[in-house]
Amino acid sequence: MLIPRSSSCCARALRLSTHHHAIAMAVPSLLSSFSHLFPRGHGFKPFPQFLSSSCSASPFSSLSSVPSPMPNRRSKTPVAAALLEIGGVKIAKDDVVRESDPTNNVPDNIFSKIGLQLHRRDNHPVGILKNAIFDYFDTNYASKFVKFDDLCPIVSVQQNFDEVLVPADHVSRSYNDTYYVNADTVLRCHTSAHQAELLREGHSHFLVTGDVYRRDSIDSTHYPVFHQMEGVRVFSPDEWKDSGTDATSYAAMDLKKCLEGLARHLFGAVEMRWVDTYFPFTNPSFELEIYFQENWMEVLGCGVTEQDILTRNGRKDSVAWAFGLGLERLAMVLFDIPDIRLFWSTDQRFTSQFSEGKLGVKFKPFSKFPPCYKDISFWISDSFTENNLCEVVRGVAGDLVEEWNVREAVQGKLYVTLR
Ligand code: PHE
Repeated sequence: MLIPRSSSCCARALRLSTHHHAIAMAVPSLLSSFSHLFPRGHGFKPFPQFLSSSCSASPFSSLSSVPSPMPNRRSKTPVAAALLEIGGVKIAKDDVVRESDPTNNVPDNIFSKIGLQLHRRDNHPVGILKNAIFDYFDTNYASKFVKFDDLCPIVSVQQNFDEVLVPADHVSRSYNDTYYVNADTVLRCHTSAHQAELLREGHSHFLVTGDVYRRDSIDSTHYPVFHQMEGVRVFSPDEWKDSGTDATSYAAMDLKKCLEGLARHLFGAVEMRWVDTYFPFTNPSFELEIYFQENWMEVLGCGVTEQDILTRNGRKDSVAWAFGLGLERLAMVLFDIPDIRLFWSTDQRFTSQFSEGKLGVKFKPFSKFPPCYKDISFWISDSFTENNLCEVVRGVAGDLVEEWNVREAVQGKLYVTLR
């Protein structure tokens, strides 16, 4: 199969893996129970989740060449803003959410995420990570990489799939896996959707960051909206002609050198390994894994761009590499963020913990319950100890009380604040 839509937080690879496919085809009904056996991303061990929602929702059973519309299951909340503007494109809610249209499966709550662009917030972990990656490229490539982070996430089926050679019968095209605005338009499911247009425009070094959308279950490591960064570098023949190697090997070597440097920039001196894989748009294709907290963790997917993509987009004599990485997945590790849903939090106990340029500040967990302060005072006897109070508090409120401060004891009266 192609894309075990890897975990939301991860690179969620758009790839083919015959192995997964064969198993899934053979036992579609078991997929949900098998969902812990197949990596959603690329074997991201720190989290016990694996296999994509698409897989758990049996994406393999929808391998028909024409995706069939599914009944919409819409959530009622939250209500989205009626008009957005992204990269100069005006988007009305009615353009994206059309309940009466059977070719549309975008619910309100997904529309409400369009335009939030967490990757463009310098004080948000996703934005901080994006900027750290930008720094790496600016420093090592003399700012040659052009950055796009405001490209509209509503793209054509052609951009999202055809132009990056995703086969017509690929599971990722199904209504089960992808949000369709109509039969020809989707919410991009990867930033690779922009590769071809940018190549046509003549760019040779570029980074595309953006929100991507995949129909998925929701849990601590999966969310149907997440953020990816795509990188592409194109070489002209004079760059490899004296290298003593062929164009593909030259590009693959350069790609590995670049990404190993990036991993060191983000994670320090880590152990790394390259794993061969399959993507429709690259050949050869690789995943980079790093050894982190006693586990091999997949960091990104990449490879040498399929020649067909270059030829079709006016770059016949060139060779190129491309990579795609999931920002939440890396941010969860770098900032110790235990739940992917937190990235969307507007609670200032979350937002106030991160600031521009501070990569890797460790997240301090806070209560799921909104804070509620109670000032209480007691008359106490001489035999009172603080442990007595502790028992009373735990007895009444259990573990809901996170802390208490004994403010003062005045003339036999004790003043306490509970939170
Ligand atoms: N688009 C791929 C994904 O979403 C990642 C990727 C990008 C892989 C570019 C190779 C090259 O999983």
